[in-house]
Amino acid sequence: MKSKLQIALDDVTMEDAWKLLEKVHAIVDIVEVGTPFMMEYGMEAVRKIKNSFPDLEVLCDTKIVDAGAYEADMAFQAGADYVTVLGVTDERTIADVVKAAAKAGKKVMADMIRAADLGKRIARIEELGVDVIAVHTGVDQQAMGRTPLDDLKEMRACVKHTALAVAGGIKPETIDEYLKYKPEIVIVGGGIAHTSDPAAAAEELAKHIRSTE
Ligand code: 5RP
Ligand code: MG
Repeated sequence: MKSKLQIALDDVTMEDAWKLLEKVHAIVDIVEVGTPFMMEYGMEAVRKIKNSFPDLEVLCDTKIVDAGAYEADMAFQAGADYVTVLGVTDERTIADVVKAAAKAGKKVMADMIRAADLGKRIARIEELGVDVIAVHTGVDQQAMGRTPLDDLKEMRACVKHTALAVAGGIKPETIDEYLKYKPEIVIVGGGIAHTSDPAAAAEELAKHIRSTE
């Protein structure tokens, strides 16, 4: 099955986000309202993107850590198709986000950033019923030279039935290393947004994804 390509809109203004989406909306499958973008513009960003690009799935990178149902509902009501919840947080919170998604007919991605003992934690997260588990090396860890490749390998080996996503500094030059482990979703932020030609970068990423079909 072909991986979906998700563009993460992180350190961009609303105006920049619009220019970017006009260039890449026909190439990507999912648009992520990234955490810093959400902090700047709130749920209005989700609303505007979903209204303008109704054919694209929208993920709001809420990184929920508490008040699971309340925060997930805010994003679902604004039009998000997915919210994210942190895999390290309380299981009650994750379960509440899963319940809110089921009620709204939407999806949940668990972000495993900084989760310890991945194999054991993944088994629990799968039992809680999230739709996607994301391997994620955050930008601060990337600055220390880390990549999500080893974690993806480990997760692919232990996950039983849940879809996998991978994020953390992926670029056209490195995507093939990740595609070997068949992630259902490949998330790319800077590898598209921080290039001089975002449409060309997105097209190159999509080309690599298509070549795995
Ligand atoms: C950081 C994030 C980013 O959206 C994610 O890491 C993707 O961006 P990049 O490809 O630039 O790493 O959630 O916490
Ligand atoms: Mg993000």
